[in-house]
Amino acid sequence: LRVLSVASEAVPFIKTGGLADVAGALPAALAPHGVAMTTLIPGYPAVLTKLAAQAKPAKGKRALAPAPKVLHEWDDLLGRPARLLAGTLDGKPDGPSLLVLDCPALFVREGGPYGDAAGHDWPDNPLRFAAFARAAADVAGGVVEGLAFDLLHSHDWQAGLAPAYLRFAPVGAQRIPAIMTIHNMAFQGHYGAEIFPLLGLPAHAWSMHGVEYHGGVGYLKAGLEAAQAITTVSPTYAREIRDPHFGMGLEGLIISRGDRVRGIVNGIDDAEWNPQADSALAEPFSVRTLSRRRANKRALEAEFGLESGDGPIFIVVSRLTWQKGMDVLPECLDALVAMGGRLALLGSGDAAIVAELNAAAARHAGKVAIRIGYDEALAHRMQAGGDAILVPSRFEPCGLTQLYGLAYGCIPVVARTGGLADTVVDANLAAVKAGVATGVQFDVVSAEAMIEAMSRTVSLYNQGDTWRRIQKNAMLSDFTWQQSGGTYAELYSEITQEFV
Ligand code: ADP
Ligand code: GLC
Repeated sequence: LRVLSVASEAVPFIKTGGLADVAGALPAALAPHGVAMTTLIPGYPAVLTKLAAQAKPAKGKRALAPAPKVLHEWDDLLGRPARLLAGTLDGKPDGPSLLVLDCPALFVREGGPYGDAAGHDWPDNPLRFAAFARAAADVAGGVVEGLAFDLLHSHDWQAGLAPAYLRFAPVGAQRIPAIMTIHNMAFQGHYGAEIFPLLGLPAHAWSMHGVEYHGGVGYLKAGLEAAQAITTVSPTYAREIRDPHFGMGLEGLIISRGDRVRGIVNGIDDAEWNPQADSALAEPFSVRTLSRRRANKRALEAEFGLESGDGPIFIVVSRLTWQKGMDVLPECLDALVAMGGRLALLGSGDAAIVAELNAAAARHAGKVAIRIGYDEALAHRMQAGGDAILVPSRFEPCGLTQLYGLAYGCIPVVARTGGLADTVVDANLAAVKAGVATGVQFDVVSAEAMIEAMSRTVSLYNQGDTWRRIQKNAMLSDFTWQQSGGTYAELYSEITQEFV
């Protein structure tokens, strides 16, 4: 089965969040199940640079201006010239295929994928991601000779229009079915009606069951209406988005397409996240050599300037936003320190949250330390040296950092929502007694509930044997892609079979 996966981010090329981890891991997760997946991403500057590096000739060989292979050229992709470049996801010549949409007018600019350095969205985002989706639908429809696909798999609003372009293709055009995956309902790509004429869609696409949404165009909504199946990234989130609180306006659509909506939990890429073979760590370790975590803890203390001590170090690796409950964290830190805990936090986001975190760090020098920024290797060292990872999200479609915590024996302390509820087994009395606990869950994202969860964690930590049991359970819980890769493969084959 040949699948075109369309996403705005994919590691190792471009990442702002978990979508990149997942899009980057899917091809390898699907390959053992007989699925050949090609990934299409936009040509942001970082992507073009990495792609060009792949095209470099081997040392010693002479080739003039090595450049990525061009598979297709558009003179007019929604008004802009563009090219389709080819490479591989892992840089190896026989690695999973990567396609890059090179449209400099839309994607080559300083700043992030979605906005400028100051955090303002690019005003032309509606056009940028319409062009991206248009290109995806062209490729899915066979615009490149010799490149055919059986199914299109769109991720999030940035790729949301692609299934709609397929659905509203002119009569006679080659059609393939589509799957739309929701990684986060909070981002829907909802724009004004003025964009509609620029999309090049037929007039009848402007309808309640087409691309129209509250008088404008809904990119995610369009994909959800057009796709033959909808998935989201955990079973609990698949249920939650039927409720207005989580569905954020699209709950009615989700309910109406009920039998077409599935939750498939994300996995982790164990080539990237494996404590036994992680070159970022002070000392690699496994479930059999847990005591080696100590060297990583000492290294973490030193790196963050934390006082050395016996108490647990809580870590946070997160966007600093309301979704992640990060506005509540600062008010819990006096209590955390009072109960003997320390905090090492890495993140970036809301300025107000950053200010409060910095104030807490100033009050508790040596106990609370904050790193603002984005640092992949540091995130690995934190999972290896921290004792517990806090993930107090108000909603969490899947969440990956708790999965990395499980794999590294850094015990997840999580809000009971979405994928967090599905992947962590709370250390209540029964679970501890049965020897199956892997973490701590709490119900309401409030300072009171979070402090109570912190205090349960500290007391479990102080019961050495129980804690080690929890760590071992966590490290043995299997959240590799094996199972979910198989589930996607089954869904792909169901959808393609019923489409003919
Ligand atoms: P979301 O995609 O909603 O932000 P996830 O938990 O799915 O949440 O994924 C977040 C990903 O980004 C994880 O791989 C996490 O390690 C990484 N991450 C988040 N913030 C940082 C940061 N400041 N530095 C390094 N990695 C980060
Ligand atoms: C989104 C969600 C996160 C999920 C990730 C990958 O960013 O917020 O919960 O893990 O996508 O699916």
